[in-house]
Amino acid sequence: MEAAAETQRVQTLVEAGVAHLPARYVQPPELRPHLSRRRDVTADCGSIPVVDLGPSGGDPVPAIGRACREWGAFQVVNHGVRPGLLEEVRAMGSSFFRAPMEAKLRFACDPRSPASEGYGSRMLAKDDGVLDWRDYFDHHALPESRRNPSRWPDFPSNYRDVVIEYSNNMKKLAQTLLCMISQSLGLPPLYIEEAVGEVYQNITISYYPPCPQPDLALGLQSHSDMGAITLLIQDDVEGLEVLKDGEWVQVQPLSDAVVVILADQTEVISNGEYKSAVHRAVVNAHHPRLSVATFYDPCKTRKIYPAMQLITKQSPLKFREVLYGDYVSSWYSKGPEGKRNIDALLINQ
Ligand code: OGA
Ligand code: NI
Repeated sequence: MEAAAETQRVQTLVEAGVAHLPARYVQPPELRPHLSRRRDVTADCGSIPVVDLGPSGGDPVPAIGRACREWGAFQVVNHGVRPGLLEEVRAMGSSFFRAPMEAKLRFACDPRSPASEGYGSRMLAKDDGVLDWRDYFDHHALPESRRNPSRWPDFPSNYRDVVIEYSNNMKKLAQTLLCMISQSLGLPPLYIEEAVGEVYQNITISYYPPCPQPDLALGLQSHSDMGAITLLIQDDVEGLEVLKDGEWVQVQPLSDAVVVILADQTEVISNGEYKSAVHRAVVNAHHPRLSVATFYDPCKTRKIYPAMQLITKQSPLKFREVLYGDYVSSWYSKGPEGKRNIDALLINQ
């Protein structure tokens, strides 16, 4: 119960019937989502590419290379993960967030330490920024030495088994995609996987309650993910947006697809040939939204640096080497906003 006092959940505010957005959730005017001015996916500008990984889709590597170069994000279909599993994970997530607060607080995260496992709302260690209109449940899933399902919800009764099956499936899919991304850069298939080393996988279920003033808030502020690659599934409520040429483009919810988001360490390894995608989540007044993000990250003792093979006269070394643990600490202390953390690694700033 102590944790409840220290970390306010957005869902608690909504259930109490707040009519106006509390000041701590009001974004400064330049960061507000301008929902009425959003580029519409149905207009001719399109959204992130959809890549078919199935046998009838042809060789996906060139399409993946183009998507990584142009967007830093794409969706994959026919990816080999059974659609029923995606549905089960979403259903379990919703049933957790629908449960009474008392039941959820049995699994509260430690609000004093950033990125601690469990049920929380505020992500950053610092206490002064604008808050996201989001609650979440973070699972430490891999390596197995970090995996302790007793810290995960025990309702519905198959929750923990489903998370384990999902974790293993997402690891495999991430590795398949990293092979293809390596090949699309002209690197050996295992290059990025080996550069990342043993995978640290976190699975974060995000729950974005309906928001009384969605024009003033963000579900998740603009950021790029800090690890190697993120695989995200969402329900049928729109909200995820990717920044492309200075404009926010909505990612269309496709129930069987997995959204692939390149993260900062892949940008470093590719020596900037591929960019990590800047993305955010917007909220709406009527519908709660649920997403499940699976992060594929290096371990904290890993040094990450650009692939030698990609350094040429035309494309000289762009980033300095970074110890991944230092990168994570700086992300959590500075926050994701403004200049991206990766810019601090640029050799010619
Ligand atoms: C994230 C993220 C977007 C979403 O968790 O890093 O970008 O749609 N989530 O929930
Ligand atoms: Ni993200």
